[in-house]
Amino acid sequence: MSDALFDLEGRVAVVTGGMGQLGAVYAAGLAERGMRVAVFDVASGDVPDRVRAYEADVTDRSSLEEATRAVTEEWGVPQLLVNNAGLDSPPDAPAEEVGPFETYPETSFDAVMDVNVKGAFLACQVVGGAMAGAGRGSIVNVSSIYGLLSPVQDLYAFRRAQGGTFVKPVAYSVSKSAILNLTRYLATYWAKDGVRVNTVTLAGVWNDQPAEFVEAYTARVPMGRMLQAEEALGAVVFLASDASSYVTGANLVVDGGWSAW
Ligand SMILES: NC(=O)c1ccc[n+]([C@@H]2O[C@H](COP(=O)([O-])OP(=O)(O)OC[C@H]3O[C@@H](n4cnc5c(N)ncnc54)[C@H](O)[C@@H]3O)[C@@H](O)[C@H]2O)c1
Repeated sequence: MSDALFDLEGRVAVVTGGMGQLGAVYAAGLAERGMRVAVFDVASGDVPDRVRAYEADVTDRSSLEEATRAVTEEWGVPQLLVNNAGLDSPPDAPAEEVGPFETYPETSFDAVMDVNVKGAFLACQVVGGAMAGAGRGSIVNVSSIYGLLSPVQDLYAFRRAQGGTFVKPVAYSVSKSAILNLTRYLATYWAKDGVRVNTVTLAGVWNDQPAEFVEAYTARVPMGRMLQAEEALGAVVFLASDASSYVTGANLVVDGGWSAW
């Protein structure tokens, strides 16, 4: 049965960071539901049917403008923007990046803020601005439980036990927290222009992490497991579709109950 509430057929989406673990799930899942999907990413690779990849850097306004112009000429003004591109410190990050807060490098702080905050801001200006001009659209900004709450440093005790220091860095949390108010700001700013703006806050996604981490992490999740990447799609589909027509400025938390206790 097709359901008009969730019908996305023929609509146009932009997914930033769409070559990554979660972005690829959104791009494929939205395309399967009939959307034409433009992936804006600095990385390249294969994409499924109905998805087109554009080399675009979210920290560079002119690059976003060029990609948005190309999408608009081909398919029309997008109806959906998923601000998913993001930088976090990888597990093998240089020692100073996962060292004490007091010596966390300013350059790392700038790099993370540049992609996670300025990138979302610029994509909202360029793609969201075009949506407001067209009088309709939905923006989904992606945050993290580490933007809603502090990281639990105890989860990384196993890393410290292996030698050296390991502190989950500050910049990611600060950047993901900024997303929450970018959403609220724009939700009210564009409320009468037909553009809805919401946050999806995600918990840690299963990605073959070390067993010690998974054990410590899942012990803190009421549902007792990590998020599967495919489980993040439903929130995006809901916020993209008419099923959420009166939802703006909200934070849809997909965390297995992490923030509930
Ligand atoms: N994986 C998790 O556990 C988790 C949890 C909570 C929130 N999130 C958020 O979900 C989003 C996606 O995470 P992921 O795990 O799929 O990450 P990922 O590293 O797999 O993908 C991120 C993508 O962003 C792209 N990117 C980086 N800089 C860019 C730039 N300047 N311009 C355009 N694209 C750029 C990368 O090339 C990559 O394809 C991020 O915003 C992340 O903070 C992830």
